[in-house]
Amino acid sequence: MNDPFGRKIDYLRISVTDRCNERCLYCMPEGYKGWAQRPDHLTAEELIRIATSASRLGFKKFRLTGGEPLLRPDLATIAAGIAALPTTTSLGLSTNGTRLASAARDLSNAGVTSVNVSLDALDTDTYRRVTGGRLADALAGIHAALTADFESVKLNVVLMRGVNEDQLVPLVRFAAEHRTPVRFIELMPLTRTDVLSSENFLSCEDARARIESELGPLETLPDYRAGHGPARYTRAQNGALVGFIGALTTPDFCGTCNKLRLTADGKLRPCLGRHGEIDLLAPLRAGHADLDALLTEAIANKPEDHTFQTDYVPSRPMTAIGG
Ligand code: GTP
Ligand code: 5AD
Ligand code: SF4
Repeated sequence: MNDPFGRKIDYLRISVTDRCNERCLYCMPEGYKGWAQRPDHLTAEELIRIATSASRLGFKKFRLTGGEPLLRPDLATIAAGIAALPTTTSLGLSTNGTRLASAARDLSNAGVTSVNVSLDALDTDTYRRVTGGRLADALAGIHAALTADFESVKLNVVLMRGVNEDQLVPLVRFAAEHRTPVRFIELMPLTRTDVLSSENFLSCEDARARIESELGPLETLPDYRAGHGPARYTRAQNGALVGFIGALTTPDFCGTCNKLRLTADGKLRPCLGRHGEIDLLAPLRAGHADLDALLTEAIANKPEDHTFQTDYVPSRPMTAIGG
């Protein structure tokens, strides 16, 4: 289906839980108060019903996010239900990787086609500072994913000046060594601002310059797509595919947006960077939900762009929205 700005909306990102076992500085840092564990997560059956409705409207690409999706014991059931829909051409998973080592094979068998793993640092102390977690667990998850027959495994790095700036070159080297694309993501003001300030913002342009100063020029690949999201790719001289997600500085970013989000508590969110949401949970539980109509309404409500640079005030936790 097309939205009012002529964009084809065929990608549904589903946050299956707002819980997480890590505490990333840019998401849900230690002590973050905006997060409340909710009892009202959608069930696997409800999630699959919503995805089935999206499939009827022509959605082809689905992604399971969180929080940390692997905290849900029924994740493989959800994945299998979505993978079985007649229109599904890709089913992604975005994870911190720390619980992936034992689950990668089952998820691949259930029909997950691609996995994006957060890896903000390759240095143990920096990784702990950023996420509160253990680097070794994330690396074990990445290694398991790389051998589990997914069509693609990619790495996500949120750029933070003064925090993981010195990790960018090692991460590009790691990407080359493991033949897995790495994407650098501009920090979005999604949760709270007292842990990270605008002084920590590092643009994709500055990150690129930093990488190029050590590893030589990156070749821009204007037509290359390694996924269905907003990343734009380059090739490093060591062979690594290096993507950039210029959430704040790339003007064409929203012009090619193709997605809707389903939050962990059952709301359709037409844009990550605007608060308008449409509730599915209450109508679903009341037994009278016309899901096709509600999805159509969310597409009709899709704004032209986010408001991160202007009047966006963080409110709902990023973990519930799903990244
Ligand atoms: P593929 O390209 O298909 O692998 O998926 P993806 O890059 O969309 O998925 P992933 O969950 O790995 O997201 C990477 C980063 O891009 C996250 O920080 C997302 O929040 C961000 N992102 C994805 N889509 C959008 C979008 O429409 N708007 C904004 N502002 N950020 C987005
Ligand atoms: N800004 C940019 N990216 C973010 N992510 C989480 N919070 C933010 C933020 N504030 C990223 C995670 C994960 C992806 C799903 O979203 O690093 O890789
Ligand atoms: Fe958890 Fe991902 Fe948020 Fe980090 S960014 S706290 S891993 S949901």
